[in-house]
Amino acid sequence: MQNDKKNRYFQQLNQALRNYERAIPSLLIDLDKLDKNIAVLKESIPASMAFRIVVKSLPSLELVAYIMEKAGTDKLMVFHQPFLTHLSAHVDDKADILMGKPMPIKTAAYYYKNLPKNNLNFNPYQQIQWLVDTEERLQAYIDLAKQLGQKLRVNLEIDVGLHRGGFADLTALSNALTLIQANGDCVTFSGLMGYDPHVVKLPKIIRSAQKAFQLSVDFYQQCKALIQEKFTALWNDSLTFNGAGSPTISLHKTENSPLNDVSAGSCLVKPTDFDIPTLEKYVPACYIATPVLKKFTGTTIPAMESMKGVLNQLDKSNRQSYFIYGGFWKADYCYPIGTKPNGLFGNSTNQTMLNAPPNTKLAVDDFVFLRPHQSEFVFLHFGNILPISNGRIKSAWQLLKNY
Ligand SMILES: Cc1ncc(COP(=O)(O)O)c(C=O)c1O
Repeated sequence: MQNDKKNRYFQQLNQALRNYERAIPSLLIDLDKLDKNIAVLKESIPASMAFRIVVKSLPSLELVAYIMEKAGTDKLMVFHQPFLTHLSAHVDDKADILMGKPMPIKTAAYYYKNLPKNNLNFNPYQQIQWLVDTEERLQAYIDLAKQLGQKLRVNLEIDVGLHRGGFADLTALSNALTLIQANGDCVTFSGLMGYDPHVVKLPKIIRSAQKAFQLSVDFYQQCKALIQEKFTALWNDSLTFNGAGSPTISLHKTENSPLNDVSAGSCLVKPTDFDIPTLEKYVPACYIATPVLKKFTGTTIPAMESMKGVLNQLDKSNRQSYFIYGGFWKADYCYPIGTKPNGLFGNSTNQTMLNAPPNTKLAVDDFVFLRPHQSEFVFLHFGNILPISNGRIKSAWQLLKNY
C-alpha cells in the first residue's frame, strides 16, 4: 500500500476502534479485502476442481461460513479434533470434511464418543474422510469401525515430495488399498491427499519449482493409475483427489494437474509468511490492533537512566516511547509507519515498549496495527474477530474453541 493510502486506511480504522465499545488487542478481518481474495482464488481454480477451505488457517465458525457462502463450497479441511467437534455441531448435510492430518486413533474414538447431539443434519460417519498414512493406522481405523458398528471413510495420504509422511511408493499404497478392499464392510475408500508446498519453497539451486511440481504430479498420477487399473472396485467418480495449499494452488491451473479438489486458507487473509510470488495478487486482509496505554518523551531503560540523552541522540525514534496493551505476537508492526519494539527494554506479552519516528502522531488510546506472520495459531490468541467492512466494525465473530 502506498503511504497516503496506508495513512487513510489505518486512520479510519483507528477512529472506528476509538469509537468502539471496548479497547483490547483485537484481530481484525477486512471483509472487503477478503472478498477480493476470494475472487482471485476462484479465478485461479479450474472448473474441474472443487475448493476446500483450510479451517486451521481461518479458525472461526462465522468466518468459515462466510467463505463457504462467498466461494460456493461445502468442503472443509480440518486439522484439530476440537474444531471437528464444534463444526460437527453446526454444518449441514452437504458438508464434506477431509482431515488434513492423520488423527491418533484415540482422538477419532474420543470424537465419536463425544459427538454433539444437537445436529441431526450432519452424519459424522459419511461426511468425514479420515486421513490415513500407514497400514498400521488403517488397521486401527478398521478396528474402530468394527467397535462403532459404523462404516468409516478413509482417504490415503501420499508423499508427493514433502516427506512429511504418507504412502511414499506404489507397493506401500497397493498394500493399503488391498487392506481396504478386504475390509469393505468397515471402511470406504474416499481418495488421496498429497500436499506439495515444498514445490515453491525449495531453493532454486537445489530443484526448480517446475521440476519439483512435475515430480509431484507424476507420482500422484501413478497413484491414481494404480487404483484405476488394479483396484477397479475402489474407483468411482466421487473420489477426492486433494492437494495444493495457498503457496501452490495457482500452479494447479493446468491440465497436467491430477487434482479434482484443492485446499487453501491462509491466502484469503494473507499473513506475512504468505508474501510470496505465487500469491502476489492477494492482499493482506487481517491485522492485529492494540491500544496505546502510555506515552513518554524519550526512552528510559531500567538501570540505564543516565543514558536517556544518548539513546535519543543515537536513534531519533527514541525521542518518544509508548507502551501498548499486549505485544510479542508472531506479527510485524505495520502502522504507524516505522513503529518498532524497543530492543533494549525487551519483549513483553503484557506491555511491550515501542518507539516510532519523531513525527508520528500517536496518542494514548490510539491503536497500533500489526500483520500476523500466520493466521493459524496467531488468531487463537484473541477472544474474537472483529470483521470490518467499509471501514466500519461489524458484530464480533467467535474463534473456534481450542479444547
Ligand atoms: C494438508 C494441507 N493442505 C493444505 C494446506 C494449506 O493451508 P494454507 O492454504 O492455509 O497454507 C496445509 C497447510 O498446512 C496442509 O497441511
